Amino acid sequence: QLIKGEVTLKNVTFGYVPGKTVLKNINVKAKPGQKIAFVGSTGAGKTTITNLINRFYEIEEGEILIDGINIKNIKKDSLRRNIAMVLQDTHLFSGTVRENIRYGRPDATDEEVITAAKIACAHSFIERLPQGYDTVLEGDGANLSQGERQLLNIARAAISKAPILILDEATSSVDTRTEKHIERGMDQLMKNRTTFVIAHRLSTVRNADQIIVLEHGEIIEQGTHDELIKMGGRYYQLYTG
Ligand code: CTP
Ligand code: MG
Repeated sequence: QLIKGEVTLKNVTFGYVPGKTVLKNINVKAKPGQKIAFVGSTGAGKTTITNLINRFYEIEEGEILIDGINIKNIKKDSLRRNIAMVLQDTHLFSGTVRENIRYGRPDATDEEVITAAKIACAHSFIERLPQGYDTVLEGDGANLSQGERQLLNIARAAISKAPILILDEATSSVDTRTEKHIERGMDQLMKNRTTFVIAHRLSTVRNADQIIVLEHGEIIEQGTHDELIKMGGRYYQLYTG
């Protein structure tokens, strides 16, 4: 393990364009191995928080620390190696299925690729492709379904040794049956990693160590499922529909 995977956001305020604040004074402390869930309505700022942890954008106010080090002082390639992600929109490149899965772990063996694909419930559809693991994907996986692309991204995260994991609606395009199937794989994926999970289905965030409820870019509630239910506030409303 390269790092422990402690992630801290301190007074983070951010906007994509000047004059429009998207996140206001966000404070989060994720201990190594914890599962942190972000919930809240569309546009609340969930993806934006993970964009900042990934350093896709620079923050003006506040700071983000990994193992106590400001991410501004961590080299981008080191950050990439330490954070695995399955995002709302999938990322694949033209190359074989195998290359796409072991992206970031070029040293991975064929066995490791298959194990990762099995964790992601991707093995059976890959085997049905014309050349199996050697099938060449067109740009961004255009010859696959949206759900299949997500499964490949999950397999890529599974093969990665990154201690930090970001799951942003990671199974949103997968059918209910496959999603049920993949639950154990997702648990395996999160094991021993600091995980930030965003999911509309609140059943998948129930067991998180901390659930953070966002509204218009601000944290309005924070706690475990039981604590937030007892509180009877926004999370309770969301949960009980
Ligand atoms: N936003 C923006 N520029 C971007 C991306 C997002 O101005 N490049 C704005 C959006 O319009 C939104 C806010 O930032 O008002 C938060 O967006 P996001 O973090 O993506 O919201 P989510 O909570 O992730 O919403 P969803 O559940 O729809 O994914
Ligand atoms: Mg989002």
